[in-house]
Amino acid sequence: MSIAICPGSFDPMTLGHLNIVRRTAHIFDRVVVLVMYNANKSRPMFSIDERVEMIKRVVWQYENVEVDTYDGLLAEYAKRFESPVIVKGLRAGTDFENEFQMAQINKTINPNLETMFLTSSQKYTFLSSSVVRELASYGADLSEFLPREIIDEVLTKAQGGK
Ligand code: PNS
Repeated sequence: MSIAICPGSFDPMTLGHLNIVRRTAHIFDRVVVLVMYNANKSRPMFSIDERVEMIKRVVWQYENVEVDTYDGLLAEYAKRFESPVIVKGLRAGTDFENEFQMAQINKTINPNLETMFLTSSQKYTFLSSSVVRELASYGADLSEFLPREIIDEVLTKAQGGK
């Protein structure tokens, strides 16, 4: 059985993330969306548990997609699977350097681990969780950017939880 791990901080999950997860689910037998801590991103909007719960509400209709979380190294988490593949989306611009570095480090820690990239859909090339958080703080319409299941929650949180 082929297994893909789609790791990320997902703060929150955007339609760009969902596009990658959906396409990965067409290619692999089993997909784990893995909510992780990114040491470079401080002051998250949502707790890890909140993110897991929100993603579960978004992906429940995909039979071969599950959601998990891990607070250690991705390369260590992946050791529980036989031939896991990390799948990440690659957007135009800044993603490449970071992603290339992470893939190399992960392979060094766990030589059994491959990383593959799906080019982001053109529509979502400039979409990021941080842009969504900013838009949400102004109460903007997020329907082009977020799965509909989580829009209200993001807007409420951005407005100070009111
Ligand atoms: O969505 P992001 O923030 O770009 O995802 C980055 C993430 C969370 C996948 C990365 O920071 C990560 O793998 N964190 C877990 C800890 C780890 O393995 N760090 C070493 C990376 S080389």
